[in-house]
Amino acid sequence: MTTIGFIGSGRIGGALAQLAVAAGHDVVLSNSRGPDSLREAAARLGSRARAATTTEAAGAGDVVVVTIPIRAYRQVPVEALHGRVVIDTLNYDPARQGVVPEIEAGGIPPYLLLQAHLRDAYVVKAFSTVFFRHLPQLARPSGAPGRSAVPIAGDSATAKAAVAVLIDSLGFDAYDVGPLAESRRFAPGTPAQLAHLDPDGMFAAPGRPASAADLAALLEKADLS
Ligand SMILES: NC(=O)c1ccc[n+]([C@@H]2O[C@H](COP(=O)([O-])OP(=O)(O)OC[C@H]3O[C@@H](n4cnc5c(N)ncnc54)[C@H](OP(=O)(O)O)[C@@H]3O)[C@@H](O)[C@H]2O)c1
Repeated sequence: MTTIGFIGSGRIGGALAQLAVAAGHDVVLSNSRGPDSLREAAARLGSRARAATTTEAAGAGDVVVVTIPIRAYRQVPVEALHGRVVIDTLNYDPARQGVVPEIEAGGIPPYLLLQAHLRDAYVVKAFSTVFFRHLPQLARPSGAPGRSAVPIAGDSATAKAAVAVLIDSLGFDAYDVGPLAESRRFAPGTPAQLAHLDPDGMFAAPGRPASAADLAALLEKADLS
């Protein structure tokens, strides 16, 4: 089993940690306020979970999930993540999460920001397309009817393979879209980013399963102009 470090243990981090513990993985939770603020959340998850600092979570994880508001990306520890596999769930939503000046200046697109900051980590974009409440609703065992695929993208084939194995254990098929830059095909505003949202109920409705074939069709529709 894998140890998963979490930098950010809010809605997405908490939902993924729950799936991870259920799958038999160990999780190390961290946030901006320090381990004391996470002891109760870790206790609720059981003996496979513990609270730590961000640097400890980064160092402990075979895979480390960075799932914080993107405006805080500079606080993600660089040295502790050197050579590690990192899942990047970050989306850029300036209205709700605050402006990132270097993105606004056009110097770098949001989906490349964390990899540029972490330099020597192997960043894989994943779980940026699933609303947190839908994660437990959509997770299914391997081969079960109605199992969903989630898009992933990254520049390291080895890291993507490790992340795909982890995603499989959490209840989803990983659909490899290509290098990290190709994650623009499932960035906010694209059809693939909305793959699991019921158009009638949106966030209030249960998550809608989307297979790899469904996802492929939606990824094709991305307007990249
Ligand atoms: N919500 C969704 O359904 C969803 C879906 C797909 C992608 N995403 C993306 O995933 C990311 C997380 O979203 P979320 O909804 O889970 O956010 P959230 O509920 O607001 O949780 C954010 C977490 O990040 C922590 N954090 C903030 N600044 C930090 C820092 N400098 N160092 C370490 N931890 C820090 C927060 O800890 P403190 O409370 O201690 O500050 C909190 O645990 C965002 O980039 C979002 O765009 C969200």
